[in-house]
Amino acid sequence: MKFFIDTASIVDIQEAASLGLLDGVTTNPTLLSREDGDPREILREITKIVDGPVSAEVVALDAEGMVREGLELRKISDNIVVKIPMTLEGLKAVRALSDQGVPTNCTLIFSPSQALMAAKAGATYASPFVGRLDDISADGMGLIEQICAIYDNYGLATEVLVASVRHPEHVVKAGIIGAHVVTMPLKVINQLAKHPLTDIGLKQFLADWEKTKNR
Ligand code: G3P
Repeated sequence: MKFFIDTASIVDIQEAASLGLLDGVTTNPTLLSREDGDPREILREITKIVDGPVSAEVVALDAEGMVREGLELRKISDNIVVKIPMTLEGLKAVRALSDQGVPTNCTLIFSPSQALMAAKAGATYASPFVGRLDDISADGMGLIEQICAIYDNYGLATEVLVASVRHPEHVVKAGIIGAHVVTMPLKVINQLAKHPLTDIGLKQFLADWEKTKNR
């Protein structure tokens, strides 16, 4: 399972990268708007920190504009994956870019049919938003199960990129289902490594070790 970080924060990306298990980065216009500076420069800096794919989203709404923006974003680095919203125009852009060998991430997916369309258009990644579905009392991880089943049935090459992850349980469930990628904020990456019994056990080991000092 690949781990991506879902942020445009250079500090958070550096911290996650220092763990040695970061496979890529996803950004979106909202995440970039939270950081100071020119979004293009931020993206350039991110691609220098992480070797893997870095998703950068287009903001045009028509296919032609999306392709144009996508090709501009690709000039930043070969690591850039062009992130395109799941609309009919978006599907045309995904097809056009994938025909040119440009990797794409079809985003804002909330149904299995949308994920099927993204794969048929040749998307490299499809990004279903599990947390936002849970937020409206729908079943985010149920959607991941459905998409993975459909992709498996037909051997579709598009990777399921679980997005809008809120907590470690989303990551564990994605692993059990067999989703290819999970993108999450630094907070969730850190939470994955935490367990209260680990902290209690470590404290006890160190306290017991102290007792051996005066022998
Ligand atoms: O990057 C897309 C997605 O992960 C957004 O998550 O937390 O804004 O629902 P969130």
